[in-house]
Amino acid sequence: METIKNVLHKLHPGGEGQEAALKEPSPSALQELKEKYTKAGQDQVFAFYDALEAPEKATLYEQLSSFDPEHINRIADRALNPPKPKDDGKQAGLEPLPESATASILDSKPEDVEKWYQTGLDLIAENKVGVVLMAGGQGTRLGSSAPKGCFNIGLPSEKSLFQIQAERIRKVQQLASKKAGHGEGKQVVVPWYVMTSGPTRGPTEKYFQENNYFGLEKENVFIFEQGVLPCISNEGKILLESKGKVAVAPDGNGGIYQALVTSNVMQDMRKRGIQHIHAYCVDNCLVKVADPVFIGFSASKDVDIATKVVRKRNATESVGLILLKNGRPDVVEYSEIDKETAEAKDAKQPDVLKFRAANIVNHYYSFRFLESIPDWAHKLPHHVARKKIPYVNTSTGETIKPEKPNGIKLEQFVFDVFPMLELSKFACMEVKREDEFSPLKNAKGTGEDDPDTSKRDIMQQGKRWAQAAGATIVSEGESDGVEVSPLISYGGEGLENLKGKTITAPAVLEKQWD
Ligand code: UD1
Repeated sequence: METIKNVLHKLHPGGEGQEAALKEPSPSALQELKEKYTKAGQDQVFAFYDALEAPEKATLYEQLSSFDPEHINRIADRALNPPKPKDDGKQAGLEPLPESATASILDSKPEDVEKWYQTGLDLIAENKVGVVLMAGGQGTRLGSSAPKGCFNIGLPSEKSLFQIQAERIRKVQQLASKKAGHGEGKQVVVPWYVMTSGPTRGPTEKYFQENNYFGLEKENVFIFEQGVLPCISNEGKILLESKGKVAVAPDGNGGIYQALVTSNVMQDMRKRGIQHIHAYCVDNCLVKVADPVFIGFSASKDVDIATKVVRKRNATESVGLILLKNGRPDVVEYSEIDKETAEAKDAKQPDVLKFRAANIVNHYYSFRFLESIPDWAHKLPHHVARKKIPYVNTSTGETIKPEKPNGIKLEQFVFDVFPMLELSKFACMEVKREDEFSPLKNAKGTGEDDPDTSKRDIMQQGKRWAQAAGATIVSEGESDGVEVSPLISYGGEGLENLKGKTITAPAVLEKQWD
């Protein structure tokens, strides 16, 4: 496939640096590209080309050159016509993960959890741990056009999700530094690699700059961008968003693997000596960023991928399920599970779901595994999301805003890499939902996974921490929660000075001496 860089070179054979003023392609370059699209049955994308102004022609040429239409046809066809399951519909070969591949924080020995925590902190202190955030989604269900990470969930401090996560990184750096007894001159750094997409990159960068990287050092925050894929009509045709632009959408959170390579994140990690990576989603306000327990657990098991799960709330919760499929670790996504599988009960405990390991998209990767991305990233499948996609009718030139789904977006899923591993290189850790998972998916007022539940879950966690430290909470008004700044406590530690104190809720503890 031709890269954008190659294309720019063709447009500006004199060299790079003139990209801002794109020129029309030469007639022969244009002809070559048109032939490619015609051969793939996708030449409708040139329907209005001749009537465009020169800069628009150049932009459309550049955009079309960044895709291989035959490849798009292939992945769309494979996504729309996946191989049929052998036994007619019922999801075959699914089993819960065996106990050998799982551990649960809920019933592990406290000394094991403590050992993992200390191991994780040591690795952080050795600057071997990096964090990757997936923040390229468009948050359509939330009903906000800004990146989700900028969202203010209504905490007393008004902190956004990005700020909360950044402060947890600052705190874990501090805890590791303290444990290692680092003095002046030796710095603990957990680099933060933030994956954005076309729609979220600009506003995310601006937000980080305006907020001075939330106290992190700019050189340790690496904002990069995932790829896009064209949107396809139900008839398999690439759609135009306007006469001079193809309709595109981010290529799913599984686009992370290609992006880690093409955006030089892997190179940066290699340079820094990163060996253990925590990857997570932007929408979980309780996420333990660079969680030492998870890092220590995964590193000491010497696995290539580990994942955290919580107990699924009920058969209809919109979460993927971590399980074993034909003997390999896998996820069945909520949009793709059948009712029978979702509702199946555990044979030993009939009031519990058989498949209950809910995926909370907190992954551990070994660096050695991510180094093999170029060998397999192109093999990851694409999934179909049926959407209402505004488009230009290439026969009439009219712009249509459809009322029902008229096409598909193609997405890769981050967990589709799991089946590539032997079970021995994969581990799963069950954690407490109230401590680690409260996603922001829906608009205010929904009552589930919305800004109010995010706020409530942070405030209730703070209250539990304060009470465990010996404080008494008295409540005035509707909320009895306590917001504890990540800068004073990462996971409930360090609150000894609250012993014997009375806190009037709702409250926010911002400093050590509050
Ligand atoms: C996701 C999981 C699901 C899990 C649930 C838990 C996937 C495919 N599904 O579902 O198994 O149980 O979270 O909350 O992972 N993103 C990108 N680029 C994209 C699309 C999404 O970076 O092109 C990011 C989003 O910014 C977000 C994360 O991926 O941080 C999850 O995306 P979202 O669409 O909200 O996933 P869910 O459908 O909720």
